[in-house]
Amino acid sequence: MLYDTLIRDALVIDGSDTPGYHADVAIRAGRIERIGALSDAQAIEELDAAGRVLAPGFIDVHTHDDTVVIRQPHMLPKLSQGVTTVIVGNCGISAAPVSLRGDPPDPMNLLGTAAAFCYPSFGDYRAAVESAMPAVNVAALVGHTALRSNHLDDLLRTASAQEITAMRQQLRESLQAGALGLSTGLAYANAFAASTDEVMQLAEELNAFGAVYTTHLRSEFEPVLQAMDEAFRIGRHAKSPVIISHLKCAGAGNWGRSAQVLTALENAAAAHPVGCDCYPYAASSSTLDLKQVTDAHPITITWSTPHPHMGGRDLAGIAAEWSVSLLEAARRLQPAGAVYYGMDEDDVRRILAHPLSMIGSDGLPEDPFPHPRLWGAFPRVLGHFCRDVGLFPLHTAVHKMTGLSAARFGLKERGVVGEGYWADLVLFDPRTVRDVADFNEPQRAAQGIDGVWVNGVLSYRQGQANGRRQGRFLAREGDLRQGFGPWNGV
Ligand code: ZN
Ligand code: CU
Repeated sequence: MLYDTLIRDALVIDGSDTPGYHADVAIRAGRIERIGALSDAQAIEELDAAGRVLAPGFIDVHTHDDTVVIRQPHMLPKLSQGVTTVIVGNCGISAAPVSLRGDPPDPMNLLGTAAAFCYPSFGDYRAAVESAMPAVNVAALVGHTALRSNHLDDLLRTASAQEITAMRQQLRESLQAGALGLSTGLAYANAFAASTDEVMQLAEELNAFGAVYTTHLRSEFEPVLQAMDEAFRIGRHAKSPVIISHLKCAGAGNWGRSAQVLTALENAAAAHPVGCDCYPYAASSSTLDLKQVTDAHPITITWSTPHPHMGGRDLAGIAAEWSVSLLEAARRLQPAGAVYYGMDEDDVRRILAHPLSMIGSDGLPEDPFPHPRLWGAFPRVLGHFCRDVGLFPLHTAVHKMTGLSAARFGLKERGVVGEGYWADLVLFDPRTVRDVADFNEPQRAAQGIDGVWVNGVLSYRQGQANGRRQGRFLAREGDLRQGFGPWNGV
């Protein structure tokens, strides 16, 4: 038997949260065909993996890569981390289905300018991804704010019955065309006015498809518990799983509450399929939000349309230079992007280590001075938090970015190194893997990622993308409720 690829003598950490074992892995026709001692086997391409870990390719469950997968399909920021699948459409913002009347409303502008939004239907978006053939697989959520922008003339109010009917229709069509579910970003001004009832009515569409509800909570600050409660009520009403996006305790007044927040998550999980994602940093990033301007912690401006040269500078420094208040400086900079150093390290660690949390980068690929999570989130978990800090064993770190994520989002035959599974794989050196991107130089590729295969094709090797792009569009398959652990039923 001649295989396409043989990876010899790797330490296989298979994504199931169990310790690794040594084996050879044979790939053929895009899939893992055999795992074991294959000393007699031969392949077109053979690779000695002694001293290296072979894991399932990482699944970035929280991205804003919607338009970049089409416009820059090499996807180097993700491929270089060992990511082989991205889930787009988070935080209520998605590239599809969207018909803009003018500029994209905040924070849809995180996905690009008006020209980037050319997918009136979800099917159009899916076709565009398929023809762009990005280097990573793509699965997509539909954003609530995107639906609102299609049907509401004023985003600062809740939707009327007719508008809800129109949004439901578009959501249903998108789910039929393979969307994973609905995302909201209720903290943002352009969705904040939506009542719980508006979201509940939209979420009613999810049940028939076994689709998921993901949410950037209405508040990540002091009212975080009420916001979580709202998310769980929506999920229970819709009989749909709930994923809390980038779970955190934001703002100095909220520090130290992660134990409470995680208890709330556990309590909900006992009776309903719920989970969360998080990124491994104590700083957040999004558009510049006047409500988040504070002198309690530093804020860095990453981009500004009226003042582009301020990208990378501290808001306090800009305010001092202009002799104005922080708030006035922020107002003058808008529209803009920012990094907020608004979390406590202990909270970040506690959430990262919790068994219900998955890893998602929340990276912002359009940002000219992006938060380093765009290039560093996954290697930072493996290097800094797993190896250096000892927050969890390596097989648990890998599980949080592979097997757990594939189960939650119903990504069939992915997320595990197993015979018959798709050969989405990453080979890395557990002694040297680390994130290099930081807040000063955020666009730097990780170290220690030796090889990345997407659907059986070696696409990244020794620090270089080789131009082979094999990513696919992954349509929702089956009922996502089945991918949650034991709970008492919806
Ligand atoms: Zn978000
Ligand atoms: Cu996000």
